[in-house]
Amino acid sequence: MNNIRQMTKKDIPQVYEIERKSFPYPFGEVLIGSLYFGAPELCFVLEQNGKMIGFLLGGYTPIPRQAHILSFAILESFRGEGLGKELLIHFLSQLKSLEFSSVKLEVSIDNQKAIELYESLRFKIESKIRKYYQDNSDAYLMVRREE
Ligand SMILES: CC(C)(COP(=O)(O)OP(=O)(O)OC[C@H]1O[C@@H](n2cnc3c(N)ncnc32)[C@H](O)[C@@H]1OP(=O)(O)O)[C@@H](O)C(=O)NCCC(=O)NCCS
Repeated sequence: MNNIRQMTKKDIPQVYEIERKSFPYPFGEVLIGSLYFGAPELCFVLEQNGKMIGFLLGGYTPIPRQAHILSFAILESFRGEGLGKELLIHFLSQLKSLEFSSVKLEVSIDNQKAIELYESLRFKIESKIRKYYQDNSDAYLMVRREE
């Protein structure tokens, strides 16, 4: 059984574990903690039969009513089953109830799967950010605006 719930402080080490397994340049556990405390109401975890298998860390930007997806991952063996999309839809509905008007994110230009997921939920590529990652590879800035 899948369950999406708001993240708590106790989840920080496990979120870090999934982050570490999912990204070539993961955020550290301390940074994940400070992102969480910056906007706990925008951070979610997804559990399957009580085990955490994914998370989404959200935050604020300097632009009023704009949210930022800071990190988002599903454990590899659970990918491709619609769980990432479910978690993202849950996050977007939270943004709606908190009256956000837009949400932005950065995604590697090589991450076709994630780009398609975001496009399927009305995110649009706004620009390319050159040398965004530590290996000097590029990202797209994607934004979704409420209609
Ligand atoms: C990106 C990620 C969170 C998606 O989670 P997921 O559970 O695998 O995704 P889903 O199964 O919900 O798929 C959602 C959508 O992704 C797209 N997608 C999924 N698999 C795909 C594939 N092999 N090729 C292209 N698009 C694909 C589709 O648009 C799909 O929607 P649909 O099933 O309605 O067609 C997951 O792949 C992940 O953790 N990746 C590593 C970390 C990462 O890249 N995070 C994003 C950083 S910006």
